[in-house]
Amino acid sequence: MRSPQPLGMTAAAFHGLDLLATAVVLLDGELRVRYANPAAESVLAVSAKSILEHPFSTLFTDSASLEELLRHAMREERGFADPDLILTRLGQEPLHLNCLVSPVEIFGPGLLLELRPIDQRLRIEREEQRLAQHMANRELIRNLAHEIKNPLGGLRGSAQLLEGELDRPELREYTQVIIKEADRLQTLLDRLLTPHRPPTHVPMNIHEVCERVRSLILAEFPRGIRVLRDYDVSLPEFRGDPEQLIQAVLNVARNAAQAIVGSKKLDGQIALRTRVARHVTLAKRGHGLALELQVVDNGPGIPEEISDRIFHPLVSGREGGSGLGLTLAQTFVQHHQGMIECESQPGRTCFRIVLPLR
Ligand SMILES: Nc1ncnc2c1ncn2[C@@H]1O[C@H](COP(=O)(O)OP(=O)(O)O)[C@@H](O)[C@H]1O
Ligand SMILES: [Mg+2]
Repeated sequence: MRSPQPLGMTAAAFHGLDLLATAVVLLDGELRVRYANPAAESVLAVSAKSILEHPFSTLFTDSASLEELLRHAMREERGFADPDLILTRLGQEPLHLNCLVSPVEIFGPGLLLELRPIDQRLRIEREEQRLAQHMANRELIRNLAHEIKNPLGGLRGSAQLLEGELDRPELREYTQVIIKEADRLQTLLDRLLTPHRPPTHVPMNIHEVCERVRSLILAEFPRGIRVLRDYDVSLPEFRGDPEQLIQAVLNVARNAAQAIVGSKKLDGQIALRTRVARHVTLAKRGHGLALELQVVDNGPGIPEEISDRIFHPLVSGREGGSGLGLTLAQTFVQHHQGMIECESQPGRTCFRIVLPLR
């Protein structure tokens, strides 16, 4: 017998786990190891006997963040997946694991960990592919930026001329929106055209970004869309490039607004939600503290046929769309070592941007 007989789990079920090719570790409510199958012994290079009753996270040198993740999963009774969890045993090479954690009832409440080693070669290949794709994207974006610059100058000039002709001063509000936005785009394009220009990081607050995006969306879609704020005001300042982050969030929020308007929905709304996120892995680095910005809309959802490609350049589900909005948003978020992802179904689409805070 490899472990104390668990409650509510038959010997047969345990025998099943023993035979699995996937490494499985069961933890009790105190996060102590109660069972590890042979596959886990081989992945972790330990004998199950030697780790039984030991707190799982203490088996590794970088234990604090793992401990916190597991505690959180335990407390919330909610599992999580980490596609690239890095665990290091003292004096050994770090292990790269695809890790799935699910709450289970076995010895009372506990956690079931499934650990799949990520093949080194596969990982490097994937990374290389991503990089090649990224370079191709940048090239494409640079070309397009060139094309956009000229007509933009024309737009701005015309708006200025128009402003001189307006007899009702209150209408200048609109020409000012055109001029200001043209200027912002101009700055953006200049930036895209400068190869590998690093973002200029200044101390900033995520809520400045949200407020700016909110007013731009309300100006662009004056009817039929509410933009709700749900801010965690305790979020600290961080160093970032406000211009880039405004553009990233605006691209996401504008898509939401366009989807809502396109579906003729009456009570359309977009929520901008900020939260603290702890112990996240971004671009293979663990971060103790991060911020999470969610842009949630109640529109029709992302068309299924493009849902796995929306971040690719030139992928658009809209008549007249450029398919660049999300590509750019992703590039800018990555400039901040962050990540952006999306979950969508009819009636609820949520884009999540996570940025490291330190
Ligand atoms: N919130 C959303 N709701 C529904 N569809 C969305 C949403 N966000 C993005 N999409 C889909 O993703 C596509 C790609 O967006 P994007 O990269 O900004 O390009 P574009 O807006 O130019 O089409 C959109 O055309 C749309 O079909
Ligand atoms: Mg768009």
